[in-house]
Amino acid sequence: MDILKTYLRVLGLLDPERGLAIVLALGNLAIAGVFFLEPWLFGRVVDALSSNSHDKTWHYIELWAGVGFAGVAASVWVSLHADRLAHRRRLAVMAQFFEHSIALPLGFHGDHHTGRLLRVLHNGASSLFGIWLGFFREHLSTVLAVFVMLPLAWRMNWKLALLMIVLMVSFAVFNSIAIRSTSRRQSEVEELHSEISERAGDVLGNVLVVQSFTRVAAEVSAIRDMMKRVLAAQYPVLRGWAWLSVATRAASTLTIVAIFALGTALNSRGEVSVGSIVSFVGFATLLVGRLEQLANFISGLFFQTPSLAAFFSVLDSRPGPASIKGLPSLPADIRGEVRFENVSFGYDAAKAAIKDLSFVAPAGATVALVGPTGAGKTTALSLLYRGYDPTGGRITVDGIDIRGVDVNSLRQNIAVVFQDAGLFYRSIADNLRIGNPEAPPEQLEEVARAAEAHDFIVVKPDGYRTLVAERGRSLSGGERQRLAIARAMLKDAPILILDEATSALDNATEARIQSALTQLCEGRTTFVIAHRLTTVRNADLILVMKDGELVEQGRYDELVRQGGLFAELDSQGQFVKDAVASPEAQSA
Ligand SMILES: Nc1ncnc2c1ncn2[C@@H]1O[C@H](COP(=O)(O)OP(=O)(O)OP(=O)(O)O)[C@@H](O)[C@H]1O
Ligand SMILES: [Mg+2]
Repeated sequence: MDILKTYLRVLGLLDPERGLAIVLALGNLAIAGVFFLEPWLFGRVVDALSSNSHDKTWHYIELWAGVGFAGVAASVWVSLHADRLAHRRRLAVMAQFFEHSIALPLGFHGDHHTGRLLRVLHNGASSLFGIWLGFFREHLSTVLAVFVMLPLAWRMNWKLALLMIVLMVSFAVFNSIAIRSTSRRQSEVEELHSEISERAGDVLGNVLVVQSFTRVAAEVSAIRDMMKRVLAAQYPVLRGWAWLSVATRAASTLTIVAIFALGTALNSRGEVSVGSIVSFVGFATLLVGRLEQLANFISGLFFQTPSLAAFFSVLDSRPGPASIKGLPSLPADIRGEVRFENVSFGYDAAKAAIKDLSFVAPAGATVALVGPTGAGKTTALSLLYRGYDPTGGRITVDGIDIRGVDVNSLRQNIAVVFQDAGLFYRSIADNLRIGNPEAPPEQLEEVARAAEAHDFIVVKPDGYRTLVAERGRSLSGGERQRLAIARAMLKDAPILILDEATSALDNATEARIQSALTQLCEGRTTFVIAHRLTTVRNADLILVMKDGELVEQGRYDELVRQGGLFAELDSQGQFVKDAVASPEAQSA
C-alpha cells in the first residue's frame, strides 16, 4: 500500500538521529504504559471503597498520584526532545532537497517550474514534520495501546472484549473503503495545487509583462478557474471522509452503549462486579479514543501522501553528473585544447539540436561560432561544460574525455558569459563574487573597470552594495551584460565562453570593453558567439552552423572566398561593423 510505504520512508528519514529517535519512541511507549494503569487503578479504588477498606483505598490513591506525576514529567521530556528532533530533521531534509534539486540536470529544471518545486519543498517538509511529531507523540503508543488493551480486556471479560474487536474491525473496513474510493481524486487535488503554484510563480516572475499587456484580470480569472477545479475535485474526497468520521463516531458510541448493556446483563447474573464494569468502561473509552486517533492518523496520512510522493519523486530524480563521485579531477594546469568528435545531441528524442559536430579548438585559440538564430550555437557550447551530455560522440579537453573527469573540476576551468546574464537577487558585489568568492574588493573594482561597469556601479545609491532585483531587472540590459562579463573575468579560467556577451551594448561601450575582452582571451581558449565583424574577422577559427550542423569552418578570408553560407551571411550584413572602434580593438 502506498500510504504505508510512504509512512515508512518518512520514518526512515530520521535515520541520521536513530539513537535519539529510538529513545524517544521507547519513552513514549513507557508513558503510554503508565496511562494504561489508570483505568485499572480506577477500578481498584472503586472496589476498595465499596468494600469499605479505606487503607487499601489510600494505598491505591497514592500509587495513582505517583504514577500520574511520573507520567507527566516523562511526557514533558519526551515532547520537548521530540519537537527539537522534528525541527532539526525538517531543516536538514529541506537542505538535502535543496542541494539535490539545484544539482539536478538542466533537463529536469526545464520540466519543473520553480513555483512548483518551492511548493513541493515546503509542503513536503511540513508533512514530514507533522508525521514525525505524530510518531513520537501518538502513533506508537496508539498502536501499542490497542494491542495491549485488547488482550487485557479479553482477560477481564471476553464477551465484553468481543465488542471492542468488532469495533476495531469496522474501523479498519471503513478506512480502507474511504482510502480506496478517494485516493485518485486526492492525487488530482495535489496536482492541481501544484499547477496553481506553478502558474502563480510564473505570473509573479513576469509581472512586468502581465501589467503592460493589461493581463491582471485575465490572470486572476485563470487562477480562480483553477481553484474551482481544485474544489470540484476536493469536495467528493471530503464527502467520503466526512462519512467515514460519522461512521466511526457512530460505531464508537454504539460500542460503549453495548458494553453497558451487556455489562448490566452480566452483572445481574453475577458474572462481573460493578468495579470490573467500571474498569472495563474506562478501558473501552480509552481504547475507543485510541482507535479514533488511529483513524485520524490514517486520514491525515492519506491527505499528505500525494505531497510526500511529489517530494520523494524530486529526491529520487536521477542526479546530474555532479553527483558522480570518485572521478579524477581535470589536471590543474590544462592547456585548453577542446575537441568535439562526432557529437550529437537533442533536447528531445524526436529532433536533434546538434548533429555529428566535429572540430578542434587548439589551446589558446579564439573560435567564433556563427550561424542563423536557432542553429544550435548556444546548445553546442552547453555540452562543453556538461549542461547536457551528448547522445553520441565525445568531447575532450587536452585529450581527456570530459565525461571521465569530475564535473566540478571541468566547470572550474570554464568561465561562461551567458546569453541571458543570469543575475541573483543579491548585491552587485555578491553577484560578481559568484565568479570568485575569495576576491577582495580591489579585485572586484578592477574587473568592473575592465568590463566598463565601475562607472555605473558607483553612481548607484549603495555602490557595490546595491541590491540587484530578481533576474537583474533593476539594471539595464547592457549593465547586466557588463556585470556578467566582469563575473567571468573574476573566474579567471583557461576556457572562456562568450555567448552574445556584448549584444546589448552600444558601439562605443562595446569597443571600449573589446580591448579588455581581447586581453582576457589572451592565453585562453575562447569561444565567441558574436555578431561583430571584428570579432569574427580576428578569430583563429570560424565555425559556421546551420540547423545543428557544422556547414563550414575556417578563417574569415577563406570562408569569404569559399562563397558559401558564411559569405552569404557576411554579404547580407549579418556581421555588424564597428562604428567607433578603439584602435586596440581594431588591431586585436
Ligand atoms: N532548453 C531547451 N529545451 C528544448 N529545446 C531547446 C532548448 N534550448 C534550445 N532549444 C532548441 O534548440 C535549438 C538550438 O537552440 P540554440 O539556443 O542552441 O540556438 P542558437 O544558435 O544559440 O540561437 P541564437 O542565435 O538565437 O541564440 C533551437 O531550435 C531551440 O528552440
Ligand atoms: Mg544562442
